Formats: sequence, structure tokens, C-alpha cells
Amino acid sequence: MPIGRPVPDFMATHSLRKLLTAVDRWYRRQGRKLPWRIGPAERDAGVTPDPYLVWLSEVMLQQTTIPHATPYFEAFRIRWPTVHALAAASWDEVSAAWAGLGYYSRARNLHACAKAVAERHAFPQTAEALRALPGIGPYTSAAIASIAFDERIAPVDGNIERVVSRLHAIGSDGTEAGWRAAKQVISARAQEMANALPHDQRAGDLAQALMDLGATVCTPRGPNCAMCPVWDFCEARKQGEQERYPVKAEKKATPTRHGSAFVIVRGPEVLLIRRPPSGLLGGMMMPLTSAWSETKADDPLAEAPGKFDWKLVGEVRHVFTHFALKLDVYRADVGVSTKVEGEWLKHDDALAALPTVGRKAVALGLGGVNSRRN
Ligand code: ADE
Repeated sequence: MPIGRPVPDFMATHSLRKLLTAVDRWYRRQGRKLPWRIGPAERDAGVTPDPYLVWLSEVMLQQTTIPHATPYFEAFRIRWPTVHALAAASWDEVSAAWAGLGYYSRARNLHACAKAVAERHAFPQTAEALRALPGIGPYTSAAIASIAFDERIAPVDGNIERVVSRLHAIGSDGTEAGWRAAKQVISARAQEMANALPHDQRAGDLAQALMDLGATVCTPRGPNCAMCPVWDFCEARKQGEQERYPVKAEKKATPTRHGSAFVIVRGPEVLLIRRPPSGLLGGMMMPLTSAWSETKADDPLAEAPGKFDWKLVGEVRHVFTHFALKLDVYRADVGVSTKVEGEWLKHDDALAALPTVGRKAVALGLGGVNSRRN
């Protein structure tokens, strides 16, 4: 077996270079202006990306949209302008600032990663070395290495996956195994693009151009092929099947879990607990809840944290990655001498510190009215 990369044939490289030039030109005109981004004109003028901000944005954007993540990015940047500042912050501060961004293991990894980087003084500059850090997987390491350090490595997020899948008409037979195989081919094609970059084109620009192309032109539905810089290279369009790609595996139905949230109110304060550090919502503040199970409990107050005068206020719903949660929200008003384990926080402080599901439950509990008594 030969070792190393196969030598690409000349015609294929020639056509790939034309495609890369078209993508680069489009990015210069149509690329988005984003708060963490150094645009191509600034890069030409010698401005270099700050790896800390690239990393912060990439971690926030995992599973979160740009409009949702942007205010959090700005708040973190102002409060913790360097990785050293973030490393020196307490977990209470970081988790409260992250509340609402979801996927809380990301916040724990973010903090752990900041500490690891601060200890070694700077971010490592290759995808391989970045992957050794907490919370940095194959996509994020490639995104940071390409955007911050112009390593010729291809990050493949959902947008890039779609663009490359359509360019080469790569789909699956609708099975999990078929889609896994298709993704490998897509990644290999994306990497070929990065490998073929001429020396005057930056890997970070290519990565961000493809992200933008997927987000603004090559959209999942109704792609705007008339505005696409690479429409004449696109195999899916040639087949008139652009919207069919990528052909992913069928999604499984999301199961539902049920539980109760217990909002204990002591005048201007409400009781929260900090969840154990690992697992779902690990390390985050939450109201007390019952266990979450596949069926609704016969007696929802069996797991209530005390014999208080519970009132059922209503139900909140929240969708996690692998299941949907329905929580019946109960409220009890208690006296000043009441002893329950947890932390009493002012209503507004509690709402600010809570992840979304907890905020929905506590907001309903605090604003809630009427009904069922135990
Ligand atoms: N999505 C994830 N990372 C991104 C980036 N750097 N630019 C635009 N969209 C993104």
C-alpha cells in the first residue's frame, strides 16, 4: 500500500482550483460580517484572528444558531476578554452567563478548556493538538485550526456537509449505515478542497465561505442556485435534484419523558439547587424536580420535597436532543423559617441563572396562578 496522499490528477486539480477561486470571490463579496470573524479584506491587510474568540464562537455555535449565540458571545467577550480571564472566573459565574445557551456540558468543557489553555499559556495551533483539549472534537478542532491558524484542514458542519453533498451528488440509501458512509465521502471531498488551495488562498476563508454558502444560498429548502458561485460545478443541480441532497438516514421519533418541577417560593426568594456536575444539565442551577420517566406518575407529588401546600400551576415543555420533556409545575409558598436543602435566590437572579428548561418552569411557577391542591 502506498503511504501518504494520492497525487491528484491535473484536470481534477484544475477544475477544483476554478471552483476554489469562484468560492473565494463570492466570499469576498457576499460573506457575512460576524462579530468573531476577521473578513478577507482585513486578513489581506494583516489582521489575524484571535484564537480565543474563534474557539469561543465555535463552542457557542455548536447546536445553537448565530442570532441566539451572538449576544452571549458579546457578553463573554466583554466580561472575559482573554482565555486567561475566563480561566480565572468561577464556575458559578460561567454557568450563570451560559444559562440559556443549552447543552450545558459545553459550558463545563468551555471552562475546563480555558483552564487547560491558560496553563499552557496559548492555544495549540493544529487540529490534532486542539483535539486533546476538553470539549474539542473533530469538527471544532478543524474549525479552529482552519479559521484561526489557516491549517489546510476541512471542518464539516451541517452547512458544509450540504454544499459538498450537492456539489458531488453524494447521498445515502436512507439507512444509518448508508449515511455514515456518505458522510465519510463528503469529509474526504471537503478535505480535497482544502488540500487543493493555492498558496494565496487561506484555509480559514474557504471554511467560512462554505459555511456562509450553505447558510445563505445552498439552503436545505429552496436553494438559490441562480446566486450560487459554483452552480456550474454542482452535480445535484445538473441532475435537477439539488433539494434532494443530502439524503440522510430517516430520523427516529423523539420519545417523551414526564416529571414534575417543584417551585418553592419564600417571599422575594425562590429555591434552586445545583445539579450534580455530570449528566444532563450537569452543574447548572435548577428548581427541584422529580425523576423524569416514560410515563406520567400516578401520584406526581410522591417525590415532592416536603409536605407543603402544593398548587399545580401548569405544564412546561422542553425539547432536548434525544427526548422531549413535559414537566408539571407545582408551586408552594413557604414561611421564612422553612428548611429545605438548596439555595435561596431573588426571583430575578434565579431566572437569570437558570438554563432554559428551568427558567420556563420557575417563570411559570412565579407568575402562575390557581388550581390543584394536595
Ligand atoms: N457556524 C459555526 N461556526 C461558524 C462560523 N465560524 N461562521 C459562520 N457560521 C458558523
